[in-house]
Amino acid sequence: MSKILVSGVKPTGRPHIGNYFGAMKQFVDLQDSYESRIFVANLHALTTVQNKEELEKNANDVILDYLAIGLDPAKTTLYLQSDVPHVAELAWIFSCITTMPYLMRAHAFKDAEAKSKEISAGVFNYPLLMAADILLPSADVVPVGKDQKQHIEITRDIAEKFNRLFDETFKIPKELIIESTETVLGIDGQKMSKSYNNTIPLFATDEEIEKAVMSIVTDSSGDIPKNVYAIHALIRDKDYLHTLYTENTGKYKELKDTLISDLKDFIGPMREKRKEWEGKPDEVKKIVTEGGMKMRKIVHGKMVEVRKKVGLIHHE
Ligand code: ADP
Ligand code: TRP
Repeated sequence: MSKILVSGVKPTGRPHIGNYFGAMKQFVDLQDSYESRIFVANLHALTTVQNKEELEKNANDVILDYLAIGLDPAKTTLYLQSDVPHVAELAWIFSCITTMPYLMRAHAFKDAEAKSKEISAGVFNYPLLMAADILLPSADVVPVGKDQKQHIEITRDIAEKFNRLFDETFKIPKELIIESTETVLGIDGQKMSKSYNNTIPLFATDEEIEKAVMSIVTDSSGDIPKNVYAIHALIRDKDYLHTLYTENTGKYKELKDTLISDLKDFIGPMREKRKEWEGKPDEVKKIVTEGGMKMRKIVHGKMVEVRKKVGLIHHE
């Protein structure tokens, strides 16, 4: 039997090439080798998006993104997290066996705390919901970027604790992180992130690509513009880059122009594919509805097992 792969993306805005190379590309590359279950983390997004229209649109957009990058619904189960409410139930059970000091050590919580005093209980409990996303469908591997590594470690701790308290129930999952793209840098040389305004959107228009590349911060001390090269290395191989950057030593403008043209070749076809899917809303709706139904069936047995093991009387 194939191993199980589970991952998700939060519908909080347009995805960027950091999301793609850090995580989403692996969903596509691995869909033939694993039983793949990929979802839209709309319950998680509620911690930041509190507007009905926006959350609905964002969630639908992520489904379109998934289809456009090449996830095939015949191979990968695509679903909305909220269509599998069992995860929220399981997260509650996890919250009862996890201590507050333990959750306070999470990087994401510490970052949130450093930024604001009014942190929601949702942000605090975020790792528990994520653990439920992963453990309920019995994931073996979870492809993510490096920033999510700690969340998978927390997931393992929770699985082990549950298994210790209530008997062997959950499989222990592993993160799957590609070293070369574990942290993709943005146009300012910092980690590329939706919240830093330093992204190259995955489905950027030609104008957006030009504007983003022209704003890449270059460091005038070296012959090779580091930040330009780092982005270029995501989409072209080493030999091509070696020749290009040797022939154009110090010529930042020429190198940026080539990067623009290479990015257009890379993004253009995916953008077109996304447009095609945008024109088929009924088909997209059917894919998500069926994905949700399939997932509810998949997780039902495990959820019943959990209820019985912890002492919640289960009525069929
Ligand atoms: P963001 O950090 O931009 O808000 P998400 O939280 O939606 O992005 O992340 C979706 C996936 O993309 C996660 O697996 C995350 O680890 C990965 N990811 C996000 N930013 C990067 C990056 N700069 N480099 C590599 N992977 C990333
Ligand atoms: N926390 C992840 C992010 O910010 C999204 C996510 C939620 C996720 N549940 C997950 C990723 C389960 C992998 C597995 O990107």
